[in-house]
Amino acid sequence: MTEFTTFTEGEFYEGHFDSRAYVKNFYSRPSGHADEKDFLTFVLRCLSKLFSAGEHRGKRLIDVGSGPSIHSVLSACGHYDEIVLSDFAQNNRREIEKWLNNQEGSLDWKPVLQYVCELEGKSPSDLEATLKQRVKEVLKCDVRLENPFYPHTLEAADCVITSLCLEAACKDIQTYCRALRGVTKLLHPGGLLVIIGVLGESFYKVDEQLFSCLRLSQNDIEEALAGLGFSIQEFNILPAENRENSVSDFEAVFHLVARKPSE
Ligand SMILES: C[S@@+](CC[C@H](N)C(=O)[O-])C[C@H]1O[C@@H](n2cnc3c(N)ncnc32)[C@H](O)[C@@H]1O
Repeated sequence: MTEFTTFTEGEFYEGHFDSRAYVKNFYSRPSGHADEKDFLTFVLRCLSKLFSAGEHRGKRLIDVGSGPSIHSVLSACGHYDEIVLSDFAQNNRREIEKWLNNQEGSLDWKPVLQYVCELEGKSPSDLEATLKQRVKEVLKCDVRLENPFYPHTLEAADCVITSLCLEAACKDIQTYCRALRGVTKLLHPGGLLVIIGVLGESFYKVDEQLFSCLRLSQNDIEEALAGLGFSIQEFNILPAENRENSVSDFEAVFHLVARKPSE
């Protein structure tokens, strides 16, 4: 475990998070970072299994804390008319915008697109076009706020996805529970919440830069969601094979699906 004197919160990401190095290190091939064996394929497979049948669909999907990344909405994007991506850090939002606008030097999502399309029998160029057409906004968010999109009030969503953001953004379990409450308020009653996260992680690295992570247990997350009245439909876990890797110390990666109670 690596000790931090202060938890690296959103403001730290503005100046220290290298969006391009992050994608290069963790998303340049479908299996993800070499030290985090099968992490990304597990995530992509879970998302594909959840969304590809088309059972979950609706008007609006919000991805909270997207970073510079679009992988978390690839399987869902064909089933929601309007997609909002978001992040605290401007450098991350800028990289997404560059990719959406086909700007020169934008990030390369081809290997990940190709993998998802192989799973789903789709064409990568069609999937890319669908996503680019459906992303309507890339907004600033701060999950520490009661309304993460303050001063904007977003129309309620049918689905909210958040991947590896809450444990990176929240310095303690109280902040995590409050952030989860704010994120779930973005959903319609009966809406679908999808969380991808890590259990037992205290740090991760982007190149040599360390970032803190709130160490979570499965029980912490189940209790937080139960407190909000959510029913968990799936809690899929892939334990880490090698905790001695140098890029992070996660014990497991998880993918969970939960429903907001109907009013
Ligand atoms: C590990 S990255 C995850 C990015 C992406 N969702 C993924 O799955 O790869 C953590 C992200 O959380 C964002 N973040 C940190 N603090 C935040 C906050 N208070 N509100 C929203 N996002 C925050 C960072 O800017 C960063 O993009």
